[in-house]
Amino acid sequence: MKLLVENIATLAGIDAGGTCRKCGAEMAQFDAVNNAWMLVENGIFTEFDSIDNTPMPTDVDTIVDARGGTVMPSWCDSHTHIVYADSREQEFVDKINGLSYAEIARRGGGILNSADRLHELTEQELFDQAVERVHEVIAKGTGAIEIKSGYGLNTQDELKMLRVIARLQESCRLRIVSTFLGAHAVGREYAGRQADYVDLVVNEMIPAVAAEGLADFVDVFCDKGFFTPEETARILEAGAKYGMRGKIHGQELAPSGGVEVAVKHRALSVDHLESMTDDDIAMLRDTETMPTALPGTSFFLNMPFAPARKMIAAGLPMAIASDYNPGSTPSGDMKFVVSLACIKMRLLPAEAFNAATINGAAAMGLSADYGSIAPGKVANFFITRPIRSLDFIPYAYTTPLVDRTFLAGEEQ
Ligand code: NIG
Ligand code: FE
Repeated sequence: MKLLVENIATLAGIDAGGTCRKCGAEMAQFDAVNNAWMLVENGIFTEFDSIDNTPMPTDVDTIVDARGGTVMPSWCDSHTHIVYADSREQEFVDKINGLSYAEIARRGGGILNSADRLHELTEQELFDQAVERVHEVIAKGTGAIEIKSGYGLNTQDELKMLRVIARLQESCRLRIVSTFLGAHAVGREYAGRQADYVDLVVNEMIPAVAAEGLADFVDVFCDKGFFTPEETARILEAGAKYGMRGKIHGQELAPSGGVEVAVKHRALSVDHLESMTDDDIAMLRDTETMPTALPGTSFFLNMPFAPARKMIAAGLPMAIASDYNPGSTPSGDMKFVVSLACIKMRLLPAEAFNAATINGAAAMGLSADYGSIAPGKVANFFITRPIRSLDFIPYAYTTPLVDRTFLAGEEQ
């Protein structure tokens, strides 16, 4: 099956293959050709060029007219919690009214309350809610996504969440990776017994998750008031025994050793980083760990943003992701995340595009197959309505520009 996309004003996010992530100054390079065509064969990008250089192939099965729009690789959203039970807008209003965390928790906010609600839902009800969110983000241009557990907080409910993620993997065309986040908070039955809860995560939950092959990665909320670097190290070691690499929540609420433990254990990514220090930046140099900022969370919670310019100046790569969850970021709109990265973290549009595509793919271990338009990669892309330039995408920060979306070469 050969699909030709013609009449592309700008074909962006291209490379010749072999680029797996972009670091430092390379992040400002988001290559593009104008007046382009692109060929997809059996769901894989094969060729592309400008019609000024190479005539379009004629021996094709289907032609898609991009009508002068821009074609981009789909967003790669490397950090989400979109399997959850019910929204928490009451908490949002409570925060506006200045309520404390304890008061908010009493009124139905917080991770533990999401866990209570999730406990009440059947796997089918949870799936029905989550699949709607998956279709929402596909329509916004996302083509690969990481989904975490972490609202179960006991073995059965964590498995229930992960089984929902497995069903989403089977039934949705976007690429999904799965992360076990049993250590998101201490489950209610273990209140005041954090050490016992960590034992449960290590001795019962991780082996059970591994036995069903339900998670690619293991995550820990390593932060002030949640889990310590020592507990995080134990959980990372337990996950590693079953081939699950780390993807850590760290340095959100305070500089609390999250980066150090992530780097020591070769975590694939360390995410949040709102409270990142200069030492953390130095520690991440020449490592495999992708620093990942979540600008939507900083925006929604009125918190500082990750020091992106310092990280890029230090030569680090950087990804951006949505963190889509009911508490701190009820949005999976990656175009808006790109805008926030530009407006609030001073990323250039090209840097933000790379952070949201190739580096997001790298933060999920997927960049050999996703994250750019390159021969041999899976043909996940979107077509925008005609726009004046790539810079218009983050500039027009609420205009819905994504017109048509394709996953593995098929229109959604
Ligand atoms: O990534 N930081 C930890 N957890 C989530 C928020 C969880 C919630 O409030 O439900 C986050 O922001
Ligand atoms: Fe998160």
